[in-house]
Amino acid sequence: MFKFLKNNKQYIVIDAGSHKIAAIAFQIFDNKPFINQIEHHKSKGIKNNHLTDINAFSSVVKLLIKKISNKKMRKEFFCNITDPNLLVKKKRTDINSGKLGISKKEVRKIYIKSLNEAVEKNKYLIHSNPNNFILDEKTLTNNPFGKKCNKLSLLSFNIFVNDFYIKNLGSSFEKNKINIKKFFESGIASSMSTLTEEEKNNGVVCIDIGGNTTKIVVYLENNIIFVENLALAGNNVTTDLSHGLQICEETAELTKIMYGSVVSPFNESIEINLDSRKKKIVNKNLIYGVIKPRYDEILEIVRDKVFDNINTRIAIKSIVLTGGASKIFGIKNICESIFNRKTRVIKSISEYNSFIDRPEFSTSFGMIKLVKQFHLNNQMPKFSNNKLTKMIDKIDNWIEESYA
Ligand SMILES: Nc1ncnc2c1ncn2[C@@H]1O[C@H](COP(=O)(O)OP(=O)(O)OP(=O)(O)O)[C@@H](O)[C@H]1O
Ligand SMILES: [Mg+2]
Repeated sequence: MFKFLKNNKQYIVIDAGSHKIAAIAFQIFDNKPFINQIEHHKSKGIKNNHLTDINAFSSVVKLLIKKISNKKMRKEFFCNITDPNLLVKKKRTDINSGKLGISKKEVRKIYIKSLNEAVEKNKYLIHSNPNNFILDEKTLTNNPFGKKCNKLSLLSFNIFVNDFYIKNLGSSFEKNKINIKKFFESGIASSMSTLTEEEKNNGVVCIDIGGNTTKIVVYLENNIIFVENLALAGNNVTTDLSHGLQICEETAELTKIMYGSVVSPFNESIEINLDSRKKKIVNKNLIYGVIKPRYDEILEIVRDKVFDNINTRIAIKSIVLTGGASKIFGIKNICESIFNRKTRVIKSISEYNSFIDRPEFSTSFGMIKLVKQFHLNNQMPKFSNNKLTKMIDKIDNWIEESYA
């Protein structure tokens, strides 16, 4: 009874995608999320990951929230953000650690310093990943506890988004009296729900091919080592098809989903309904001829970006594909030949038609994990620094989980 009262709180994550807006309501019991409701709707008022019509966007959000939320519960809202021009900075922070062995106190102190110093003009620190520690300029380690040194350094991987995106999105939510507690980076969220610990440790590229952007996140030895968003994705394939076949975008979208493939098809003709009366006969080879080069282009750009660094190229063992556009038939094969790496495509395997393993919901489910981390952090004693409690991603629970 008391446990129930204490947990009378609902968490809501909103994936403001350029193709669909999805929302999940859930509760947390014993540090485990329990999903109450999931809903999604075609995106409105958001184009190329920019808000173009606040009213249209707000009306979809309002509808979704009404459907999924429980009126009687207190609520906390979270949302993702996709900035095609992320700013990524590796940062080094130093403190004098004294002569005694390093304890949680020193680790907390260096994190706080690192977060406080991570300030960029017109940018918002969306994610800070503590990667490694250096002891006395010599020893690189991810476990500094108990070790003795005079100077302790922290290497962190910081990701910033344009401040304007946060303000704009935040104020559109305020229209519905929704206060977003924290924003999460879309690609990071996606990788959280799709990658295994083993993949992250061995070296993996997570590629979320969505509507307007392809999100790239690379992990090695459980650390994030590369993040970038590419402003090319599934909707570009649809536009190509619309131009190539001289059909409207809606018909092109349907044609892509029904007949699209990146594997050379048989020489077969199909009939496309243009409207209730008109039809068009199209050869499947033509559809393939339009779609395949665009997927090749997207994956080749990702490969060149990631493999630009020779050390990363050697370290990467596999590729994981997710996002709605990864559902195109045959993508595993072209990805394996472009990257020359084993590829896993996130697939809907659930017999219950569940959303959980559908690639277009990777970001939403990843946000649930991030909220869980955030929730854990908020149960820890609060620091006086307000900025810190807002941005704190991993500090205390990272310490607890890794070294307790
Ligand atoms: N079966 C399918 N085959 C090929 N493409 C598909 C399929 N189903 C959906 N798509 C494409 O997936 C894209 C949408 O993916 P998703 O829902 O992940 O995007 P989003 O999260 O709204 O966008 P973004 O992440 O870019 O903001 C669209 O371009 C859509 O055409
Ligand atoms: Mg998305």
